[in-house]
Amino acid sequence: MYKLLKQDGKAKRGELHTVHGVIQTPVFMNVGTVAAIKGAVSTMDLQEIGTQVELSNTYHLHVRPGDQIVKKMGGLHKFMVWDKPILTDSGGFQVFSLSSLRKIKEEGVYFSSHIDGRKIFMGPEESMQIQSNLASTIAMAFDECPSSVADRIYVQASVERTTRWLKRCKEEMARLNSLPDTINKHQMLFGINQGAVYEDIRIEHAKEIARLDLDGYAVGGLAVGETHEEMYRILDAVVPFLPLEKPTYLMGVGTPANILEAVDRGVDFFDCVYPSRNGRHGHVYTGRGKLNLFNAKYETDPRPIEEGCQCPACRHYSRAYIRHLLKAKEMLGMRLCVLHNLYFYNHMMEEIRTAIDENRYQEYKKAKLAGFEEENI
Ligand code: GUN
Ligand code: ZN
Repeated sequence: MYKLLKQDGKAKRGELHTVHGVIQTPVFMNVGTVAAIKGAVSTMDLQEIGTQVELSNTYHLHVRPGDQIVKKMGGLHKFMVWDKPILTDSGGFQVFSLSSLRKIKEEGVYFSSHIDGRKIFMGPEESMQIQSNLASTIAMAFDECPSSVADRIYVQASVERTTRWLKRCKEEMARLNSLPDTINKHQMLFGINQGAVYEDIRIEHAKEIARLDLDGYAVGGLAVGETHEEMYRILDAVVPFLPLEKPTYLMGVGTPANILEAVDRGVDFFDCVYPSRNGRHGHVYTGRGKLNLFNAKYETDPRPIEEGCQCPACRHYSRAYIRHLLKAKEMLGMRLCVLHNLYFYNHMMEEIRTAIDENRYQEYKKAKLAGFEEENI
């Protein structure tokens, strides 16, 4: 159950109550695609850096180790030792980006696994069954994310099919939640808005899925090659047609600036691989933009990545030491950078929530964006 606590302009401050605890929104979900946060980050680490929700992937976990194995181990929470909320993406998006020999039919998608080439079929029912076996807190509907350059005719037909798939997801989820051996009988379902860059198709779709009374609504198919301005234009158009009294989730987004702009347009949930991926490459976030720790100017820099940061890396280590670890290809170098970056995102979300609570989101956003543009030191 979502409680809208407050609005500051269009920015929403809310709480999502789940069987695994309360999520304070706006929130950034930390990505652990295969039930592991890349960069040797454990779920104990996540507890320490303020993570509220972990995100894993239906497609990956179905292929390896297999959702039946996760179910035998008591579900994803027990398997990875994480008692807070978990959101699982439905597999739709990954089928399109990773697998080969895809064939989309009304019933679902036929494809070959990116691990061993094995032939797999996944449709709305299969995606819900896999997510029910994983026993995540929130399941995502099985959708098609059309290419950002797909033509209008294709996108229209694809979105109509995604709506039919969503209705099948909802029915299957209700059935699974009522079965005696289902691990999480309170699994929530979020629907996904699609429509590429066509505002009118997106708005029609948003109106239609809003009527289905789901637990939350995502905007999908963005950050797939369009410009940031296009993404903001689509959010401006579509978010007003999604229910205010339900959480809104912008999938796969984004940079700290993207998040600040999307919160301002009414988005509650985010996820992105940037903090972990950039951390693994020695790129670390600060209030003054990103630093590349491989840069020679940090060779003897005794300061932490960011002065005042309370993350495990900054509380103990210097830029010079972390740079050395990265150059020596020691795993600890990556790990410290990823911990810092995830903490940076989680901490920024906390600041965002406080700013909305205190009715000063506009000033906060402006100051934060200006900071990112400053000369790095
Ligand atoms: N992750 C990022 N974008 C999308 C999307 O459009 N659909 C799904 N299922 N996952 C996503
Ligand atoms: Zn730090």
